[in-house]
Amino acid sequence: MYKILNKQNLNQYITLLEVYAPFIAKKAKPGQFIIFRVDEKGERVPLTIADFDREKGSITIIFQVVGRSTELLANLDVGDYILDFVGPLGIPTHLDGVKKVAVVGGGVGCAIAYPQAKALFNSGASVDVIAGFRNKDIVILEEEFNAVSSRLFICTDDGSYKEKGLVTDVLKRLIDEGNDYDLVIAIGPIPMMKYVSLTTKPYGIKTIVSLNPIMIDGTGMCGGCRVKVDQETKFACVDGPDFDGHVVDFDELMMRNSTYKKQEMLDKKHNCR
Ligand code: FES
Repeated sequence: MYKILNKQNLNQYITLLEVYAPFIAKKAKPGQFIIFRVDEKGERVPLTIADFDREKGSITIIFQVVGRSTELLANLDVGDYILDFVGPLGIPTHLDGVKKVAVVGGGVGCAIAYPQAKALFNSGASVDVIAGFRNKDIVILEEEFNAVSSRLFICTDDGSYKEKGLVTDVLKRLIDEGNDYDLVIAIGPIPMMKYVSLTTKPYGIKTIVSLNPIMIDGTGMCGGCRVKVDQETKFACVDGPDFDGHVVDFDELMMRNSTYKKQEMLDKKHNCR
């Protein structure tokens, strides 16, 4: 059982939980994820590690309520326990030798982009963070990103906060201004990662995306998380979750991720457990 040490509602949709999980905290690295199960009837849901504190023995997760399991998780409070909390899973993001990077986050994906930005900034790299949100009300982690970036660019779809526009507009402008990034990291909704990859491809800038397919066991056994990368089938839980964005089949990933949408809607509607 894993105790919740801290809880913050970052906005009306997104929740932060700090969970006591000392063995995971001891080994966790940026890019890795955990799989949680709220209770014995719960489904297994992967969430990327947003932060870790080895001394305190804690793991921070940040998530948006998108279905029944995340709703149950968001309803827990400080002092409550999560039944299963397994990790760290997946291959850590390869960050060695990176000197100048653009970290691009979209919505709740910014929570996953944060540890990458932090690790790179602490290693001495120049880190431009581009964070995109639908509107002002759902902006998260501004202060945190300010502390771990050389420059922070926030944009909103409706222009209600900072720059109006898409993360790809900002990224293209920065590249065209002569910022010679040796790496772009993009984490967020699948269409955003797809279009960031399409933006960087003509410039030949290496681009890493963090994929979020449906997962079940998280150990490479069930095949639920398969994704097509460079025409080959990969399992995101053991081969990823990071992949070269220029060769990911994003359209197939979008199709596979919507497989259970109807069941999820029904479950949410009838609260049938
Ligand atoms: Fe089962 Fe990846 S989650 S193979």
